[in-house]
Amino acid sequence: MPVPHPRLHSFAEYEEAYRRSVENPEQFWAEVAEPFTWRRKWDTVLKADLVGGHNEWYSGAKLNITENCLDRHLATRGNKLALIWEPNDPKTRQIRYTYRELHQHVCQFANVLLNNGVEKGDRVCLYMPMIPQLAIAVLACARIGAVHSVIFAGFSATAIADRVNDAQATVVLTADGLNRGPKQIPVKRVVDEALENCPSVRRVIVVEHLGWPVQMREGRDVWYHEEAREAAKTCPAEEMDAEDMLFILYTSGSTGKPKGVVHTTAGYMVWADYTFRNVFQVQENDVYWCTADIGWVTGHSYLLYGPLLSGSTTLLFEGVPTYPDAGRFWEVIDKHGVNVFYTAPTAIRSLMATPLDNVLSYSLDSLRVLGTVGEPINEEAWHWYHTHVGKERCPVVDTWWQTETGGIMISALAGISPLRPTHAGQPLPGVQPVLLTQEGQEIQGNDEEGYLAIKFPWPGIIRTTYGDHERARQTYFGPYPGYYFTGDGARRDSTGLYRIIGRVDDVINVSGHRFGTAEIENAINQNAHVVESAVVGYPHDVKGQGIYAFVICREPVGKADAGHVEASIIETVVAEIGKIAKPDKIQIVSGLPKTRSGKIMRRILRKVAEGETTNLGDITTLLDPGVVEEIIQGKK
Ligand code: WT7
Repeated sequence: MPVPHPRLHSFAEYEEAYRRSVENPEQFWAEVAEPFTWRRKWDTVLKADLVGGHNEWYSGAKLNITENCLDRHLATRGNKLALIWEPNDPKTRQIRYTYRELHQHVCQFANVLLNNGVEKGDRVCLYMPMIPQLAIAVLACARIGAVHSVIFAGFSATAIADRVNDAQATVVLTADGLNRGPKQIPVKRVVDEALENCPSVRRVIVVEHLGWPVQMREGRDVWYHEEAREAAKTCPAEEMDAEDMLFILYTSGSTGKPKGVVHTTAGYMVWADYTFRNVFQVQENDVYWCTADIGWVTGHSYLLYGPLLSGSTTLLFEGVPTYPDAGRFWEVIDKHGVNVFYTAPTAIRSLMATPLDNVLSYSLDSLRVLGTVGEPINEEAWHWYHTHVGKERCPVVDTWWQTETGGIMISALAGISPLRPTHAGQPLPGVQPVLLTQEGQEIQGNDEEGYLAIKFPWPGIIRTTYGDHERARQTYFGPYPGYYFTGDGARRDSTGLYRIIGRVDDVINVSGHRFGTAEIENAINQNAHVVESAVVGYPHDVKGQGIYAFVICREPVGKADAGHVEASIIETVVAEIGKIAKPDKIQIVSGLPKTRSGKIMRRILRKVAEGETTNLGDITTLLDPGVVEEIIQGKK
């Protein structure tokens, strides 16, 4: 018998579970946690603190998450496929690992880390392609109790250095290069550049992927395949406390540099597993595919941990949706018989813009459940996905959550809950959402809109921001003491389904990637031409939001020079953050709309960027109302 994985099977069961999770959360979450492998059970299920942000789950318990992802499946699922790897180029070799094989590879990688001096609690940064060794390396860190911090392999050297230094990582894992569609990127070179400014790093372990020559720094860099030769394929799992750190993942906020969101072991494990099973309703013989990169939280919770915890077969795709052509997703689904497919609205919108034949020429018969995540999905994209991909027979679950929540918070359960396009739906058991007024009053009743907050801890709640708890407290627990503040606005419809409207803070969501406007401004301001800048989001057909930058330059910039200055600014942003943060529009201005106290009135800039310049609201408090007219005239 496989390890039992209780799942909610009907809407009545969901309602019952929801009620119990609110009435007696400790008993509810103790029952959910029961089937996992514990070295020692907890003393206390929950220590709640939504004021100071010191929340603990399953305190006193001892466990290792990889024993739950791998070891406990060996007896019943040892020969079942755990991981399928689909390479960037469909003509090259796929790789498949059974649970037994994956266990061996993880143990071997864990031994390489141990042999290289990695100890429990050490931070290991990973800057790697979407290859099996990335999944294996993440689990290998968890196996020995090292804290993994995966950095999406599109970030620049400067961004890597910021993250490595903040985490004080001692070891970095990377590869010779990566494939992204038709392009190859020499990631080791990017790491080398980053590490010029990272004194904490003493070892770099390089996985061979493209077979490219790389510079190996004597005494610091080693090849994984050489280290692995000596490494055994068994490795005892380190015993971890429930609240020991599992990983750090950097994400952008409305102020300053990205912060290291910290998740710990037991609560995250229970939450990733519970939400995965119930939202996607994955069956024992399903092939499940989440297209997110492991460098984002979706890849952590729903490509890796959630599926493996529940003993599923998870697909890891190296490539991009449009290579070799815009039918690639659908080709992969047919090729591997994918049953459950989870992707982002931006991917759907970009594929929608290509000829329909790209999708109609595949059968997609295996699909049973579709999901989306990362940003609001517009009505048109939802229907296209439901009609042409799901053939109107697959429920589309629109899953709302955040890096900080560890797993899905508001979503339909596939095939069980009511669906309403553009609405994420109802909260999962354990999640108690509220809508607040700006002053922090709870808004009762339906057909209402407000700030989305959560009034009770759930097992996957953020534990801290690495090295700076005060920042976590202020950001998430400070705005409305007693609540976790999400930063999103939401609407509750007449039947109680939630629709996420978007961020209410200075965070913009570009193709499902989060950036702080201040973070992009800081990057732009590094450019020698620039005195000051202001960045806002504006609606973008494919990306959801685009990046619009208003920039004041040192010298007047004539029409002839504008192109050159803009290119230079873009280059700076790419170097500071990465290609994913490139401004879509740059407008050079002579001034910014500021209040008399010097605060930039972003509301006005947003309206200009959106093209809504007829109703700018009250601008009488501006220091110099004249700049507004100039900005409108110069709009891109
Ligand atoms: C922000 C979190 C959670 C995984 C990916 C993004 C937005 C996320 C949805 C959705 C509308 C969504 C929110 C949220 N968001 N999912 N289904 N509908 N908006 O994680 O980078 O931490 O971003 O993404 O604005 O706050 P993230």
